[in-house]
Amino acid sequence: MPTDILFEPIKFRSLEVKNRVWRSNVSGRFDNYDGSGNQARINWEVKFAKGGAGAILSSFVPVLMRGRIMPGYATIDRDDTIPFWRELGKRVHEHDCKFILQLSHGGRQRDIQGIEWDKGLSSTDKPDPLHGFECERMTKGQIQEAVEAFGEGARRARDAGLDGVELHGANGYLITQFLSSAINDRTDEYGGSLENRARFVLEVVRAIRRKVGDDFHLQMKISTTELCNAMTREPRGNTIKDSVEVCKWLQQAGVDAIHCSTGGYFAHPRNPAGDLPIEEFVKAYDSMVSSGAKTYRNYRLLRGKLTGRLFRQRWLKERGDVIEGLNLADSHAVKKAVSIPVLCTGGFQTASVIRKAIDAGQCDGVTIARSLIANPNLVELFRQGLDRAPKPCSYCNRCLVQVVENPLGCYDAARFDSREEMVREIMSVYQPSAFQ
Ligand SMILES: Cc1cc2nc3c(=O)[nH]c(=O)nc-3n(C[C@H](O)[C@H](O)[C@H](O)COP(=O)(O)O)c2cc1C
Ligand code: SF4
Repeated sequence: MPTDILFEPIKFRSLEVKNRVWRSNVSGRFDNYDGSGNQARINWEVKFAKGGAGAILSSFVPVLMRGRIMPGYATIDRDDTIPFWRELGKRVHEHDCKFILQLSHGGRQRDIQGIEWDKGLSSTDKPDPLHGFECERMTKGQIQEAVEAFGEGARRARDAGLDGVELHGANGYLITQFLSSAINDRTDEYGGSLENRARFVLEVVRAIRRKVGDDFHLQMKISTTELCNAMTREPRGNTIKDSVEVCKWLQQAGVDAIHCSTGGYFAHPRNPAGDLPIEEFVKAYDSMVSSGAKTYRNYRLLRGKLTGRLFRQRWLKERGDVIEGLNLADSHAVKKAVSIPVLCTGGFQTASVIRKAIDAGQCDGVTIARSLIANPNLVELFRQGLDRAPKPCSYCNRCLVQVVENPLGCYDAARFDSREEMVREIMSVYQPSAFQ
């Protein structure tokens, strides 16, 4: 029998992973206010390791407290976080699964701010266009501090025995805020031309290489097409042509793989591509009502019957009809331009679709977020020969909007026999507790 490409190992410069289907980054408020990690996060990640994913890409892990987007996410901003990450890595490794930590900084984009600071730091001083969160334009000293923090984050991840790091250079967070022609309005050497806008991330890559050497896996998640104008009045932002250039520079600077995503902010109609469950969204959004200049306006807009419906219609129009593999054309373009492996995220949940994409040279592997939240054993089901899970992810995006206030999990009640079963499954992440 010919071997199944999904289960062929994928080789990077200094890392080998057993298969081509990985868990994509998913954030949830499992941890403590101060950024120290909890048993619930370990339980959460182990679910996917047990389910057969080749590697797990962590949630958004802030490299500085001022770079966080929500309290309750484990951070990697100081050395005393290392033991937690070491334990998490060890528990994931028990299931022959790799763990790659996503080094992140939110810049001007966030969900709920903590008590330690008021304004975010960014390439610009324009507030974020979705919620109106204010920010300060970074000074060169602050830029250097952030570059150093990314390097130190990578050093801590290596010291914790993890398998590599990913730069969160996608979806509107700080690295995107420098890369993006829609967001970056600087007039110094960090703004203007594409080369100048890429200076920040390339300095980050070099700082990481200085700290961890050449034999520690480093990949970059990038929004290859930004479409910042999808729901806002911002310009369109970077195109695939711009991103292909950036990916070539990233490879030259020492990046080992590219992870293709989309959308110049988060959430975006095309990331995670799906529905907009307005009622749940309104409920979750009330916790943000007074935090940004536009949040109260948005809340009223979403709550209004007609305006809420119109907003959702626009969201669906901007999303388009194709969900599964919607970034494949972009990852294909990147793959043709670089010689390092390329991963693609966006809607995957059918074995034959993934196989076809890899066989066609559109990517070397895929990463999955929601369909694994819905079916954490999806990769094992593929291994058993199923093309899809019996109860697939509906792309309803309830998991996404619930996460602001509630534990991460699948909230599509139609996928469960009862509401009680759904809640039981969501709460299972708290077992075992830290005290058992
Ligand atoms: C609840 C939720 C949390 C997410 N958190 C992150 C994150 O922390 N970092 C990140 O890069 N992407 C994050 N994403 C995006 C996913 O990693 C993924 O790229 C995107 O959802 C598309 O994949 P999918 O269609 O398989 O869900 C998140 C998505 C969801 C639904
Ligand atoms: S709530 Fe469940 S079904 Fe809906 S998008 Fe999330 S994981 Fe998929």
